[in-house]
Amino acid sequence: MKTTISRPRVAASGRKISPAQNGHGNGESSASRAGLKINPRLVEWLKKPKQNLIDGKWTPAASGKLFDVFNPADASVIARAPDSDKEDINRAVAAARRAFESGPWRAMTTSERGKLIWRIGDLILQNADELAELESLDNGKPRAVARVADIPLAADLFHYMAGWATKIEGNTIPISVPNFHAFTLREPVGVIGQIIPWNFPLLMAAWKLGPALTAGNCVVLKPAEQTPLSALRLGELLLEAGVPGGVVNIVTGFGETAGAALAAHDDVDKIAFTGSTEVGKIIVRASAGNLKKVSLELGGKSPNIIFKDVGDLNAAINGAANAIFFNHGQCCCAGSRLMIEREIFDDVVEGVATQARKIKLGPGLDATTQMGPLVSEEQLSRVSNYLHQGKQEGACYVTGGKRAGESGYFVQPTVIKDVKPGMSIVREEIFGPVVVAEPFTKVEELIPRANQTQYGLAAGVWTRDISKAHRIAAALKAGTVWINCYNVFDSALPFGGYKQSGWGREMGHEVLEHYTQTKAVVVGL
Ligand code: NAI
Ligand code: MG
Repeated sequence: MKTTISRPRVAASGRKISPAQNGHGNGESSASRAGLKINPRLVEWLKKPKQNLIDGKWTPAASGKLFDVFNPADASVIARAPDSDKEDINRAVAAARRAFESGPWRAMTTSERGKLIWRIGDLILQNADELAELESLDNGKPRAVARVADIPLAADLFHYMAGWATKIEGNTIPISVPNFHAFTLREPVGVIGQIIPWNFPLLMAAWKLGPALTAGNCVVLKPAEQTPLSALRLGELLLEAGVPGGVVNIVTGFGETAGAALAAHDDVDKIAFTGSTEVGKIIVRASAGNLKKVSLELGGKSPNIIFKDVGDLNAAINGAANAIFFNHGQCCCAGSRLMIEREIFDDVVEGVATQARKIKLGPGLDATTQMGPLVSEEQLSRVSNYLHQGKQEGACYVTGGKRAGESGYFVQPTVIKDVKPGMSIVREEIFGPVVVAEPFTKVEELIPRANQTQYGLAAGVWTRDISKAHRIAAALKAGTVWINCYNVFDSALPFGGYKQSGWGREMGHEVLEHYTQTKAVVVGL
């Protein structure tokens, strides 16, 4: 991502490295100080020292180092996780390689594999309350949202993928050379490195692990340093489901150390990455050493287009507010550029601003909270910098525009108008609850403007004119187009980016193409 905001280094990101002897964090005090109840079982779990999952065993980082894991609602430390480095990645990759080349995973029938993957989905649902609470504590999102969105969607992805395990088939091919029988096999790629972000920690782990396992691969997963906890809890559930040792290894740590070592590793056959476009490019460069396969799900600056013939204007306003404010705007597909037909511009902007003003900010564990804090101090500072730049460049802030409160990483839901195409707030991914609104008059000028971005992840179109909706959907350069809706996801729907929003697709059966390779076999008769 070509941003005008520089990336803070590890040392500047507020993470403190602590010796392993210091043991655990203290989930109890932070939330209970605020009078919020945490399930006592989760409190106990948070207190247990966190370790990597390597070769089916829980293992501390080779260096013994740990890093602090924060609750972004009050910046308290809730746990410490292994600060892994190259040595840990080497061990995890070696374990994944052994599990891939020999052992029970390769011998398992596809039917058994499918049942195992289904069990993972079941276990996620059985532990849904606890996982939602953990996700809320670690990421900041409202527990209620995690409970109805992140957790069941993660379970559903495993359930959906489980069915594919028995259905990955090759073809018989009638080649035009006489006296040969030719067919294709679809085989797993091998050892997969998976690097995921913090915005939907468990769900991103599911999007990555589900298809990799379904296709018979072995994995080293590195969760984001901001939110490593639900992946570690998922590791326990994977063992409970019966995933053999070494098939899934989970190694926590920072991007510049553990992540970089995984991306560059010569014995990793493929990297699947979700995160910033900037780091996506680093991953591509790191993969050149052994030309490992790469799939990328990167940033976005998605246009959400509302026409005056939308019919139900309130539905469109609600949809536009949801498109940007869901998950505090920390969505790669957030509808962060609101393009509104001029005649209804003022009404829509005021409508979305009214919604924004009504959103109740608070800690994720508070049942009345509608929007939690941003995930980290680093993210708060990135978003605050954008808000500051937009003001300096002369944009008009209809509502919001600042940090909210003094503790925790809260930002006011923000609606901005009077913007120009060159402004950083219009061009760059902000990844916070900040939308820029621009009027348009003619469809002919709208399409090039909507496509005038390095990104191409998603778009929204609101109109009752069915032929216009289809024409525009076809003309938009985006991997997903939502018509009269936004943020509709399903395990069966492929998701991914055009242009610099990525390579490949996640979910649906299309993702399995990125976790298999085709072998042509020719038999002389
Ligand atoms: P990031 O791209 O740095 O982090 C994503 C993952 O990549 C994390 O697991 C991180 O540890 C890892 N990583 C970082 N540097 C690496 C390296 N050199 N080699 C290998 N792995 C590395 O994203 P960050 O810094 O957390 O957020 C910055 C911006 O990225 C956000 O403001 C947002 O614009 C964008 N972003 C996009 C996401 C998406 O879903 N597409 C998710 C998270 C962030
Ligand atoms: Mg980062």
